[in-house]
Amino acid sequence: MIEGKRVLLTGGAGFIGTALARELAPHNEVILFDNLHRDSFTGTSLSKHPNVTFVRGDVLDTEALSAAMAGCQIVVHLAAIAGVDSVLRSPVRTMKVNVIGTFNVLEAAHRAGSVERVVDFSTSEIFGTHAYKVEETHISPVVSVGEARWTYAVGKLAGEFIGHSYWHEHGLPVTTVRPFNVYGPGQTGEGAVHHFIKRAISNQPLVIHGDGSQIRAWCYVDDMVRGVMRVLECDAACGEAFNIGNPRSTLTIYDLALKVIRLAGSSSPIEFKPLGYVDIEVRIPDISKAREMLGYEPQVDLEEGLSRTIAWYREREGLA
Ligand SMILES: NC(=O)c1ccc[n+]([C@@H]2O[C@H](COP(=O)([O-])OP(=O)(O)OC[C@H]3O[C@@H](n4cnc5c(N)ncnc54)[C@H](O)[C@@H]3O)[C@@H](O)[C@H]2O)c1
Repeated sequence: MIEGKRVLLTGGAGFIGTALARELAPHNEVILFDNLHRDSFTGTSLSKHPNVTFVRGDVLDTEALSAAMAGCQIVVHLAAIAGVDSVLRSPVRTMKVNVIGTFNVLEAAHRAGSVERVVDFSTSEIFGTHAYKVEETHISPVVSVGEARWTYAVGKLAGEFIGHSYWHEHGLPVTTVRPFNVYGPGQTGEGAVHHFIKRAISNQPLVIHGDGSQIRAWCYVDDMVRGVMRVLECDAACGEAFNIGNPRSTLTIYDLALKVIRLAGSSSPIEFKPLGYVDIEVRIPDISKAREMLGYEPQVDLEEGLSRTIAWYREREGLA
């Protein structure tokens, strides 16, 4: 149990950050540091929680970052440019925020003197285009230079190296987590589930880029939060990287669209559009390491998670 800590979440106003803050807030002081590039926080009950403080700031602003981190025992670094559309729109910003921002966070944590644990959010994209039951050590060579999509994976991988360098050189207790396709209530960014559900509940066409044969394993946000909490509770996790995902919830993008339409009782058609960028054909985690070291086990199966997410979007859109 994590309690009585002062916790800084960079990117804390985002989708996963707000879900994590909800879990931490009853027993800890939680500071959300975010520039509101995305916003899953404003107007939620979390924004009125007495243990939650929001600081509008940018991870590229080292002074603001250090000020927000003062006296913190735990830092979870989630701030990033994420989502294929955002990455393709500005690969420069992606590299800047995801590499320099991560460096700034780790340097500030090192200098703060009070930090007992850092969790750095990487990504399953570092495993490249064919990631079938990948283990933590199976990093494939992702890159072909000039392909804008890979700026995200390369930036995140650089972030991992920065984190683990601080662990080796300065003893900063850093753990990397690699989320595999997280979805659920509160998601405001990009992602297939987000797009499909928003369209399905208003009976608009669901757009699939490519032929829909891409395979993904979907992880409900509560399971992602459970994984991070397990990391924070486990001292042996320092200096390690963990896949966090739900391999049981694996299907093609086409099947995902059909499932969302069925669960939402929607009359939406499905439209196919050209891909226009390099895509990942298969991405399924092996989570044996998280199971063994952290006792992590995803608990929310896809149909249950999708149903809860559909209900949340309906309520938000006033369609309940
Ligand atoms: N959601 C997923 O499926 C998934 C998968 C793999 C990795 N991740 C990683 O998990 C983390 C959280 O993802 P999410 O889904 O909550 O994304 P999100 O976009 O909802 O949250 C990211 C937050 O970072 C903030 N941010 C962006 N640039 C910033 C900056 N310069 N300074 C301060 N804040 C900034 C945004 O405003 C946003 O609130 C990210 O690091 C992402 O790369 C997510």
